[in-house]
Amino acid sequence: MKFFVDTADTAEIKSLAASGLLDGVTTNPSLVAKSGRNFIEVIREICGIVEGPVSAEVAALDYEGMMREAAVLKAIASNVTIKLPLTPDGLRACKTLSGEGVMTNVTLCFSAVQALLAAKAGATFVSPFIGRLDDIGQDGLSLIGDIMTIYGNYPSLRTEVLAASVRHPVHLLEVAKMGAHVATLPPNVLRMLYNHPLTDKGLEGFLADWKKSGQTIA
Ligand code: G3P
Repeated sequence: MKFFVDTADTAEIKSLAASGLLDGVTTNPSLVAKSGRNFIEVIREICGIVEGPVSAEVAALDYEGMMREAAVLKAIASNVTIKLPLTPDGLRACKTLSGEGVMTNVTLCFSAVQALLAAKAGATFVSPFIGRLDDIGQDGLSLIGDIMTIYGNYPSLRTEVLAASVRHPVHLLEVAKMGAHVATLPPNVLRMLYNHPLTDKGLEGFLADWKKSGQTIA
């Protein structure tokens, strides 16, 4: 399973990439605005930190505008993935870009039939938003399950399911059990994955006993 980080904060990305466990980065207009940085500059810097896919989202709503913006974004680096909204124009742009061999990520997916459309448009990734469905009292995790079932029924569909709007490690646990190909995690959730109180307690005990043994490793 691939782990992406969902942020435009380059200090966070550098710190998390040092683990060697980071496979890519996703951004969106809100995350770029939060960074306070120029969009093109920040995407260029992120593409220099990670080798894997870096999602950069278009702002245009019409096909021609999306294609113009995609041309600018894909020129930044070869690992830029063009992020497009799940709209008729976004899917049309996805179909064209995918046909040109450009990586695409169809975002704002909230239903399994939308995900089927994204796959038919040749998307490299589709981003179903788990947390935002939970927020309105719907079951975000069952959406991932439905999409995995549908994609599994049609092996010719090559789109990878990128679980997005992940709020806590249990979301990750459940989508991993369903076989989601990728999860994009906020930095704090990614860091939470390492933690278990018994790991801390066990380490403390081992270190205390090691000290008593008076040995060193050299
Ligand atoms: O970047 C897409 C998605 O992960 C956003 O999540 O937390 O804004 O619902 P959130």
